[in-house]
Amino acid sequence: MLFTIVLFSLLHTAIALDSQPNQVHISYGFAPNDIYVTWNTYAQTKTSTVQYTTDFLNYHTVTGTQAKFIQGTNTQFVSRVLLSALNFSTRYFYRVGDDLGGWSNMFYFKTVPYSNFSPKFAVFGDMGLTNARSLPYLQRMAQDNEFDAVLHVGDFGYDLHDQNGEIGDQFMNGIEPAAAHMPYMTAVGNHESYHNYSNYKNRFTMPAVANDNFYYNFTLGDACFIAYSTEFYFTDIKAALVQFVWLNQTLQQQKCPWIITYGHRPMYCSNSEHDDCSKVFSFIRMALEQLFYDNHVDIAIAAHEHSFEITTRMFNNKTDPTGMYHIVSGSAGCKERHDPFKHKVPPWSVFRSIDYGFGMMEIKNATHVHWRQYSVDHYPKKVIYEQWLTK
Ligand SMILES: [Fe+2]
Repeated sequence: MLFTIVLFSLLHTAIALDSQPNQVHISYGFAPNDIYVTWNTYAQTKTSTVQYTTDFLNYHTVTGTQAKFIQGTNTQFVSRVLLSALNFSTRYFYRVGDDLGGWSNMFYFKTVPYSNFSPKFAVFGDMGLTNARSLPYLQRMAQDNEFDAVLHVGDFGYDLHDQNGEIGDQFMNGIEPAAAHMPYMTAVGNHESYHNYSNYKNRFTMPAVANDNFYYNFTLGDACFIAYSTEFYFTDIKAALVQFVWLNQTLQQQKCPWIITYGHRPMYCSNSEHDDCSKVFSFIRMALEQLFYDNHVDIAIAAHEHSFEITTRMFNNKTDPTGMYHIVSGSAGCKERHDPFKHKVPPWSVFRSIDYGFGMMEIKNATHVHWRQYSVDHYPKKVIYEQWLTK
């Protein structure tokens, strides 16, 4: 009898742990009041359920989908639930799981106003599990609603697939204190290329499920955002061509005062380690600059270089008021540390820094965007650069 009780309790413990939700994070759906909730379990669960409430009295219950994700010997199940047509300017509390598998902690997020607001984004790339210097600030600021969403512009965990995906699991649990509280929007980087980008495809849920999170768009405030894969140009030219057609169509349809793109590798940089962006014939620049210019892109955000750099409005390697600002924000912190700059500063480079840190971008109105760059090299964080970007 005692043996049976011990065995039952061991089995029960194992089941409860394996089916316990972890890695909870949210993202925008096709509208800013549509929110995807994504989480992982190590065992299959009966349902993928989100319960959400504003008053802890009345709960809405929504179920979604579950997909098996195998990374080496690490098998898990990714649950996705869409909370659609939420009320604007509303704080929601939610938990994920179900009564059979277990529930997550209760998290909260706040939906954006319907109109007349100035959305703020934490912007960075290249954040690893080790040396994630910006993450503690982002966790606290997200919970305090000091911004509205994250743009993580490629390169996660270093690398998500390492140690049978356990690095990815730890990284996703590390960002949960931020990413469960506000949309964590992503673009794919070169560190996600393993096994045809399977970790990037499986771990995130962007408003473009049909093309595996690689390219998508959404609108918030006075800005249209367009995310894309720069990695196709290095690994899958056919996919790059399909994406180009989508980019061309999508850019032409945008009607926002500001058009802001983000993709991992920059078109321009003045770093010294001979990456694509520092070359006269950069692949990304040759492929996309004319398209972006013709469609009046205002700001092209990238990462990949482990540093911060902002340019003048420019086109064709020269300052040009009809061109776009380029911002490289790839210094959130990872085990590969900093990428130094060339000694000579190009005439279009306005400010550059190798400090660890992240950007805070506010879409103030139809004519003004504010960028503030934080350094986290020393405690407390400090602003090392700020600028109004204008139409
Ligand atoms: Fe990179």
